[in-house]
Amino acid sequence: MEIREATTKEWKQVRDLYLALLKNDPEAFVDQYDEIAALSEERWIRGLENKDAKVFVAVENDKFIGMGRINFYKELPGIPVLHKLGVLSEYRGQGIARKLVKAREEWAKSMGAHKVRLGIIADRLKTIEFSKKNGYKIMETLRNRAQIKDGTWVDVVFMEKDLSAER
Ligand SMILES: CC(C)(COP(=O)(O)OP(=O)(O)OC[C@H]1O[C@@H](n2cnc3c(N)ncnc32)[C@H](O)[C@@H]1OP(=O)(O)O)[C@@H](O)C(=O)NCCC(=O)NCCS
Repeated sequence: MEIREATTKEWKQVRDLYLALLKNDPEAFVDQYDEIAALSEERWIRGLENKDAKVFVAVENDKFIGMGRINFYKELPGIPVLHKLGVLSEYRGQGIARKLVKAREEWAKSMGAHKVRLGIIADRLKTIEFSKKNGYKIMETLRNRAQIKDGTWVDVVFMEKDLSAER
């Protein structure tokens, strides 16, 4: 199994993996399956070409089994945000997600970031626990911040990790 950046040529594998994760665990992500399935090739390639972002993938024998994205945003200079972390269910519990988190933190450091941020829907207690185990601390909880599949608005917990201690 290797963890590496996805290339633009691999847009289909990244899309198919994300769709499989969305289908299996729709409540874990804010994105909607149908909206993601409708995105064009050009849109996927543009996303993978974005210099302010990277998608890291876990690949075993050419099969894409896990992924995670990281993005810099103009509104949050120097603090990139982790998104879209998922591992296919049959490969869970082997430390693959932890490695996908680590790979993105290393990229963040190489880009000069001192912190990394992520947002988790407040009732996803297992995911919050997972992030704590990976060194993330709760910074704030924003009320009614994200709209979920049934249309209701839910609280989002924002967590950050200080990367400077690891330099
Ligand atoms: C969360 C997830 C990425 C973990 O993948 P993984 O490769 O099994 O994770 P690792 O092996 O590196 O770490 C295992 C830890 O994940 C956490 N975990 C296990 N099941 C989980 C679940 N259903 N949801 C969230 N976290 C979970 C636990 O903290 C576990 O630690 P433990 O074994 O000590 O209990 C995977 O369960 C998944 O894809 N879930 C669905 C999508 C999701 O919730 N993504 C995160 C929000 S964007």
